[in-house]
This record gives sequence, C-alpha cells and structure tokens, in this order.
Amino acid sequence: MTGETLLCLLLVIFSSTVDAQMFTFGQNHDGQLGSDTSGKSRYEPTPLNITNQLLMNMQIESVHTGYYHSILKLKEGVTASFGQNKFGQLGNNQTVSTPILIDTTQLAGKKIMKISCGRYHSVISTDDHLLFSFGSNTHGQLGTNNVSTITEYIPTPVYMSGHLNNIKISQISCGNEHTLVLSSDNKLFSFGSNQFGQLGIGAKVKQEPIAVPVTMSGVLLEKSISQISCGAYHSVVVTKDGRVYSYGDNLNGQLGHGQKTKSEFSPVEVDTTGVLSNKHVVQASAGTSHTVLLTSDGDLYSFGHYGLLGDGSSEQQHKHSPVRVDMNGVLMNKRVKQVAAGAKHSIGVTTDDVTFTFGHNTYGQLGTGDVHAELQLSPVLVNMKVIPSGKTVKQVAAGSFHSAILLTDRTRVGLSPVQITIIVFVCLTAVLIASISIAFVVRLRAKQSYEMLN
Ligand SMILES: *[C@@H]1O[C@H](CO)[C@@H](O)[C@H](O)[C@H]1NC(C)=O
Ligand SMILES: *[C@@H]1O[C@H](CO)[C@@H](O)[C@H](O)[C@H]1NC(C)=O
Ligand SMILES: *[C@@H]1O[C@H](CO)[C@@H](O)[C@H](O)[C@H]1NC(C)=O
Repeated sequence: MTGETLLCLLLVIFSSTVDAQMFTFGQNHDGQLGSDTSGKSRYEPTPLNITNQLLMNMQIESVHTGYYHSILKLKEGVTASFGQNKFGQLGNNQTVSTPILIDTTQLAGKKIMKISCGRYHSVISTDDHLLFSFGSNTHGQLGTNNVSTITEYIPTPVYMSGHLNNIKISQISCGNEHTLVLSSDNKLFSFGSNQFGQLGIGAKVKQEPIAVPVTMSGVLLEKSISQISCGAYHSVVVTKDGRVYSYGDNLNGQLGHGQKTKSEFSPVEVDTTGVLSNKHVVQASAGTSHTVLLTSDGDLYSFGHYGLLGDGSSEQQHKHSPVRVDMNGVLMNKRVKQVAAGAKHSIGVTTDDVTFTFGHNTYGQLGTGDVHAELQLSPVLVNMKVIPSGKTVKQVAAGSFHSAILLTDRTRVGLSPVQITIIVFVCLTAVLIASISIAFVVRLRAKQSYEMLN
C-alpha cells in the first residue's frame, strides 16, 4: 500500500515537471544565458529559467543571439528578451536581465515575424511587413533616419518611406553596427556602419542612417538570394544556385576571397577554386573574424582567423580560402543540418541531432563541460547529459561568447493544479478502495479460519 502511495506521488511529481525547451551555455555576465543572474559562466548546457508567468507556457519558435543579449520568438507572435540592456537592445525599457516581453507600445497588436540581434541593437519585422529597431544607433544601425537619437529603449519604426517602401521582408541580419534586410522580391538593403564596406553599397561612405540598396549589378546580377548573414564587420550572401558572396572587413580572411586580402565595399564571390569547387552551399554563418559554410552534402567549410576554423590545423596562419572542417572525428559519417558562428567559436547540429562545437572555450561557449580546454581545433561534442534524449534539435545559435540549443516543442507539458488535484484524488480513492478490499478479504479469511477451527 505504501508502494501504491509512493507510485502516486512519483506520478504527480513527474508529470508536473516541465520539460525545458532551450539550453544555453558560455558567458553569462549580463544574464545572456537566461538561466540565472549570478554572472557565472556555464561550461555545459543549462536550462532556460523562465519565471515570468506570461512566458511560462509559451512555445519557443526560434532563438536569436546578439553580442551580450538574446531574443526569443514565441509561437504567439510575441517576443521575449534577456541579457545586456545597457543600450536598450532588449526593447523593454527595463532593468531586469531575465526573460520578459518586449515593449509593444509602438507595435499596436502586430505579430512579430523576423528577429535579428547585433552587438548593441536589435531589429524585428511585423506581420504587416514593417521593421522596428531598438538599442544603440551610434552608426545609424537602427535605420530610423534619426542620427540625433543615440539609443532607443523600445521598438521604434525603421524609416520605410524610401527604398523599403512596400517591400515584403523575408530575412533580417544584424552585424555589430550594421543591418541587412532581404525582401521577398530578391532585393537587398543595408543600413548602419560602412567602415569596412559591410553595407556592400559600393560607395565608401562611413555610415547610412536610412536603408540603401546593396550593389546587385556586379556578381549578384540576376542571382536569386537564398540566405544572408552578417558577421561583426562583414556580410555574407548565399544564392539559390549554391554560390557564396561576401563583403566588408577582411583583416583575417573572413571574406574567403583567396588572393584578394583587402576589405571589399561591394559583393565579391568566395573562392571556389579549391575545396569548394562543385559544392553547393546551402547556409552561411558569419562570425567576427571567421565564416562557416554548410554544403548540400552535409559538410562544413570555413575561412578566416586560424584556430576558429575547425579544420584541425594548429598552423597560426589565417585562411583566405575555404578549408574543410574536420569530418573525421566526432562528425565521422554524419551530415550537418545547421551551423552558427559566434565571435570566436561555432556550434552546429547533425541530421541525427548531435550538437558539436569548435573554436574558443574561454567562457564555456563550447558546452563540453571541460573548464580547462580553452581551444578546440576540431569539432567536439556538446555535453548532452542534462538534455532529454531522443529530442529533435530545432536550432542552434551562437552569441558572441555564448551558445543556445533549442529543442522541438515540448512533448510533455506540466499539469495544471486542477489536473494534479484530480490525479491525487483518483490515486487516494484507489488506495482507499484497495485498503478496504484487503481489510475485507483479511476479515473474511479470519472468519473462515475461525469457522473451520470450530
Ligand atoms: C530562476 O530565476 C529565479 C528568479 O530570477 C531565481 O530566483 C532562481 O534561483 C533561478 N533558478 C535557477 C535554477 O537558477
Ligand atoms: C523608459 O522608462 C523610464 C523610467 O521608467 C521612463 O521615464 C521613460 O519614459 C521610458 N521610455 C520609454 C520610451 O518608454
Ligand atoms: C529623433 O529623435 C528625437 C528624440 O527621440 C525626437 O524628438 C525627434 O522627433 C526624432 N526625429 C525624427 C525625424 O523622427
């Protein structure tokens, strides 16, 4: 009977725990992990800690990591942010760093669709194809046509009367101090800092506070763009035919242009004369001083700063042409489905939901649990001990020095107090009925034995 009671209690405790959907690790000094506000770095995956009642039962659709902050897209078209808010990049005009909803004063009931986070700014789009931005505007990266405003603490309309008039927004990507916007009719726009040519507009102007068109007359002529990714000071464009183009800062070879080692103010094709020849690129992720590419056969290629490339090489020489990421170790016989580049590390996930990382681990951003290994030249496995097994990894994301793993929607949701009460009631009733029956049987037996004896 105590066994049954114990079973009942275990059932209640088990079914009332909510499966965490997202795990983070790495630097946490601004609360960018969304797990706690201790400021302590985490060397292995830690569940997101949502205490806000409004957010508790919402499904997370995607995670968007900035330099020291993160924004979540929730299923209901709303958005929560956490981490550093020094420049208003959380869009909530609050002082807390734990996940809370973004201020919707200016959004007037619109649903949030696309999100991207830069260093100190964030840009979102709404279901009626408007853009809003918040955070630092030191270089015009908010695109609000208001250079006199240095910071916006809540979502503020991006200036859309010029080139952005009537566009349908398909992608947004934020670099450190610039923003790239792709429209569904294959037009590319940028605003913010152009110090290294990261706007890709040809002109060597310092910055643009309003969206301007990226040069499409050169190598991008008649190309159909499938994906965009902003690095810290460079931009990368993938086209539907599997080719890659880049522009902006090239100090460490992060543009992958081979012999050409200077910054570029217009798109230039990534070197395809080597390992990338005959490969079809499906995704690019630009970091600070390196870039990672995923090809249709599930392999990874990278270029830029040595040590961050995952190619296993200890040679201290920047790679201006793509190299192949080491697929012989933990990635043997695996196919990669998504990759994300941070400031000095990268995280990826395979088609069988194995997550891996490479590069710097100074703050635990590799998630291996190993406090001592500061640099991994080849991919290593993220420590998945705390992550429930058999789950599909929906997305991996890399902030500057932190990482996030998003699982598919919860399969087991926590029970409501009413449901728990019903279970307890049913269990106790069952226990009571069992006790009464047993007592009855015992008495019957005793009576029978007594009658037999007499
Ligand atoms: C979750 O956040 C709350 C409020 O910030 C905090 O009190 C609690 O200790 C956190 N839980 C964990 C497991 O860190
Ligand atoms: C931000 O909060 C401060 C203090 O509560 C308030 O004075 C200010 O008006 C708020 N700004 C916005 C844009 O809501
Ligand atoms: C620029 O921002 C300032 C301060 O927030 C505001 O007073 C002004 O109206 C804005 N100008 C434009 C053109 O939106």
